[in-house]
Amino acid sequence: MGISYIEKKKIFQMDTENTTYLIGLSPEGYVGHIYYGRRLKGEGSNYLLRMNEAPYTPSVNQREKSSFLDFFPTEYPTGGIGDYRESCLDVRNERGSIGSELFFKSYHIRKGKDGLEGLPASFGSEKDVETLEILCEDSILGLAVTLSYSAFEKCDIITRSVKVKNIGEQHLKLEKVYSACLDMDNKEFEMLTLAGSWARERCIQRGKIRFGKQLVSSVKGESSHQEHPFMALVTEGTAQETGEVYAMNFIYSGNFIAQTEMSQFGNIRMVMGIHSDYFCWNLRPGETFQAPEAVLAYSAEGLGRMTRNFHDFYREHLIRSPYKYGKRPVLINNWEATYFDFDSEKLLGIAREAKKAGIEMLVMDDGWFGKRNFDDSSLGDWTVNEEKITSGLPDLVEKVNKIGLKFGIWFEPEMISPDSELYRKHPDWAIQIAGRCPSQSRAQYVLDLSRPEAADYAYRCVADILNSAPIAYVKWDMNRQLCDIGSSYLDKESQGELLHRYMLGVYRMQERLVQEFPDLLLENCSGGGARFDPGMLYYSPQIWCSDDVDALERLKIQEGTALIYPLSSIGAHVGDCPNHIVGRNTPFETRGHVALAGTFGYELDITKIGEEERGQIPGQVEIYHKYQELVQKGDYYRLASWSMEKPYDCWEVAAKDASCALVTYIQVLAQPNMHSRVIYLRGLEDGGQYRLEGTEEVYSGEELMKCGYLIPSEKGDFRSWLYCFIRCD
Ligand code: GLA
Repeated sequence: MGISYIEKKKIFQMDTENTTYLIGLSPEGYVGHIYYGRRLKGEGSNYLLRMNEAPYTPSVNQREKSSFLDFFPTEYPTGGIGDYRESCLDVRNERGSIGSELFFKSYHIRKGKDGLEGLPASFGSEKDVETLEILCEDSILGLAVTLSYSAFEKCDIITRSVKVKNIGEQHLKLEKVYSACLDMDNKEFEMLTLAGSWARERCIQRGKIRFGKQLVSSVKGESSHQEHPFMALVTEGTAQETGEVYAMNFIYSGNFIAQTEMSQFGNIRMVMGIHSDYFCWNLRPGETFQAPEAVLAYSAEGLGRMTRNFHDFYREHLIRSPYKYGKRPVLINNWEATYFDFDSEKLLGIAREAKKAGIEMLVMDDGWFGKRNFDDSSLGDWTVNEEKITSGLPDLVEKVNKIGLKFGIWFEPEMISPDSELYRKHPDWAIQIAGRCPSQSRAQYVLDLSRPEAADYAYRCVADILNSAPIAYVKWDMNRQLCDIGSSYLDKESQGELLHRYMLGVYRMQERLVQEFPDLLLENCSGGGARFDPGMLYYSPQIWCSDDVDALERLKIQEGTALIYPLSSIGAHVGDCPNHIVGRNTPFETRGHVALAGTFGYELDITKIGEEERGQIPGQVEIYHKYQELVQKGDYYRLASWSMEKPYDCWEVAAKDASCALVTYIQVLAQPNMHSRVIYLRGLEDGGQYRLEGTEEVYSGEELMKCGYLIPSEKGDFRSWLYCFIRCD
């Protein structure tokens, strides 16, 4: 297990429980990729580097070096010297040319893993993870590049990051620094990515790989609603339990690219990193640039294994919050209940009714500050609007606490409204290109967080409010994408650094927040789920998944999200009907069951919904308390997918010790003349006996998994059922 260097073969071998990753050194010192896949029991070798396919090998024949580089499977391709596939590193020298070439210098293997300066990053103890650092150099540029690999044995995860240092005399410009590359032979791969839009984020899409480049990316300054920093290559026919999966996910929340390229020889290069558009980083002598971390997962047991590996990895090695495995209070958020039209009385009315139903926290959403009665003003003026919150915030919080609820609050700290005191005072704090009127989006501009005093001001506003009253929860929102990428703070040479500096500013603010308020429950959000990514999970244990709370739309959105992220991180609420976005009516019970596959809460006016629905809330809250630990910590299995193929949807969460399993079944469309359906459970003990909760029915684990459980077909669309099987032998 772990990482070793096999001197006689000049290869590095990284083993996790079920995977092996092999890196080899060529005679010239190129760092080549040999293999990533199923665990090798013995030592690997380097024949897959194909170094003997002369006449191209440079040590044999310099004449055809470019042909060699354009085929050689490399760990970290550099641009400008003859490998015409996608490069990971483009460096411009002082004379204006781009070209770099890296040769192996030294390596270091150790137990444990360091964080990445200024960036979110995975972590693990010396028992969990080993790290390999390969130092390469370009002596002509005076550039040192450290390729870092960390092998997390139990989760079958390998993370990668790259650090670039100027060890020479000239001022270099980094025009591209990706974080990971996988060069492989093509196994008739299909590409699986997550795509969407506002209110329909992260829907699974899949298609065959063709020659040339296929990519997903964002240049929007955030990971985005539309595309997601995730890509998986899967062998044909890969399903939940079968097939091979090579996946990459990015611990970063800004611009990214995830790309696969099939070359002229039919091999594959998969890369991931910060998008090079609008990016240019100055690297002066002595300076270092740290690229974010990419997470690599390989599964030989289909998508389900990949999913569970990601879930375990993010729960154990990325999310830091004390709430990671702690019970989250059942909250009610007033956004869809009132929008901007609320005051203390209305909120207290909601709180009283919520308390009766067993709800545990009131979250005051957008509209409590400045003169904000609509979305077109006051971002940046984070003082309480006392026309609405009539006796001030501490008093409101105290009253809500007295009712018996915790209090939570919404912020959008990264923004500045053109109609705000802040903008009138500091128009230069908005991101904009000098001489050009910046484009508004939702009537707002973005604060230039590369400017330390702007970031500090925004942070202090949040912290001052939190210090003014016992506030248990913050929803940190971010409601527009970035454009007009210019900063009046940065000099002309540094404008290409703005987007990454913006992200570093966001991370710095959130780090301060979690350090200063360690008990705070933080939920990130971005116009729904536009910044649902591993970067944000490092700071907040949960992220608002989508503005669409329609139970049916959520099936697709949550299926795509749960493909990678644990249910404990998925912000999910029971909304009102007809749903505000799609106008659909779904049963209250179904809305509850769908929200249970996430953090669970309410997004409706509890004082206005019908008696019958209100009456169901205490029961739903009870169900949440009963199963939340299982949902938070268990193994997730996707048993059927409405969005892909079936008239029904079904997932299961099984306890890691196989002591129980909760199955959620949604009959999306009723079908005429149907018999009961069979659902095959997973993750149980073959020989164990399981009783279906609330009945006397007992089945063996083997029966439930091999023969299946019968789900009756009943009348009615959008209906749902929960089945809990508890071990009883
Ligand atoms: C975003 C969020 C919503 C709500 C509004 C408030 O759209 O996703 O939940 O907070 O902003 O303006």
